[in-house]
Amino acid sequence: MPGARAEIVIDYYNRRIKVMDFTGRFEEISGTLEALAEAEEMEKIIVYTPPERGHEPKTCGYVEEGTIRGYCAGKNCHIFSSYSKNSRGISFHKEKEDQVIKNCLKKGRGTEKISQKSGDSRRNGSWKKQKEKISLPEEYTLRPAVQADASTMAALYSQGFQFYPTPLHMESYLLKTMDSHVLYFLVEKQGEIVSLASAEMDSENGSAEITDCLTILSERGKGLIKELIIALEKELSDRGFRSTYTLCRALSSGINIAFASLGYAYTGRLVNNCRIGEGFEDMNIWCKMLK
Ligand SMILES: CC(C)(COP(=O)(O)OP(=O)(O)OC[C@H]1O[C@@H](n2cnc3c(N)ncnc32)[C@H](O)[C@@H]1OP(=O)(O)O)[C@@H](O)C(=O)NCCC(=O)NCCS
Repeated sequence: MPGARAEIVIDYYNRRIKVMDFTGRFEEISGTLEALAEAEEMEKIIVYTPPERGHEPKTCGYVEEGTIRGYCAGKNCHIFSSYSKNSRGISFHKEKEDQVIKNCLKKGRGTEKISQKSGDSRRNGSWKKQKEKISLPEEYTLRPAVQADASTMAALYSQGFQFYPTPLHMESYLLKTMDSHVLYFLVEKQGEIVSLASAEMDSENGSAEITDCLTILSERGKGLIKELIIALEKELSDRGFRSTYTLCRALSSGINIAFASLGYAYTGRLVNNCRIGEGFEDMNIWCKMLK
């Protein structure tokens, strides 16, 4: 590839190649990516593209599936995909997933209207001061996870997800990521962990992905995940992050409604993007600018 370079991740679990960055002409990289996909039996190639270069993957037959606002140091990132295996590009539950989005939007959600509130939180100071603002019933406590929680968290994630794109069921993985670039927050009810969420931080670009959301079955629908998302946003805001986004399961009403009602904007859907639940699932993109 003379003059052209790409930073790629070969994701065997999700059977896809992710191009995180490229320099030089995309046309020169495209053939190599296709050959690599064939050799490694990867079914999807996904390219994270800055706005000024979007035409390049498009010319090579890639389709734009969505945008992550503010992902590239404040600039939007356009996500282009190509499917080496045709069936991987077919969304099997499109109508139901469209209905989930319609329900989110018709209630006036998904318009980023609440992002002002999140801006206010920056003036609240540290996590300790923000704690007072959390509106959970008395027997619930929301706090950042610590290393001693990792074993219980791994067990809960393992019960909550049959498959998951990252090894959340492994205590060692949780400890390692907790120690580096992932913030885990949790809700306890009388000392038992009942709800979890995390933020994967890209400090260089000031952008974070809110992910790994789980509430145990008996505690669902009580607003716990929303409180966790709000708390993570506040913490990120205090740390100087400019934007957050999530890639969430397109068929799950609860998680889409949670992000929509917190002022996130719906910006696309990644078809059969990762293995979660019982197989490959479509993931919706929701974004919010914190400042
Ligand atoms: C998705 C999940 C995390 C939501 O957690 P939760 O604590 O029950 O969420 P909340 O109570 O904060 O609810 C958020 C919103 O969704 C609504 N909601 C929750 N579950 C819902 C459901 N099954 N159907 C429709 N709406 C639902 C709530 O009423 C609330 O709406 P509001 O903003 O109008 O108040 C939980 O259902 C879960 O753990 N699911 C399995 C794991 C999973 O799929 N995680 C998502 C990975 S992307």
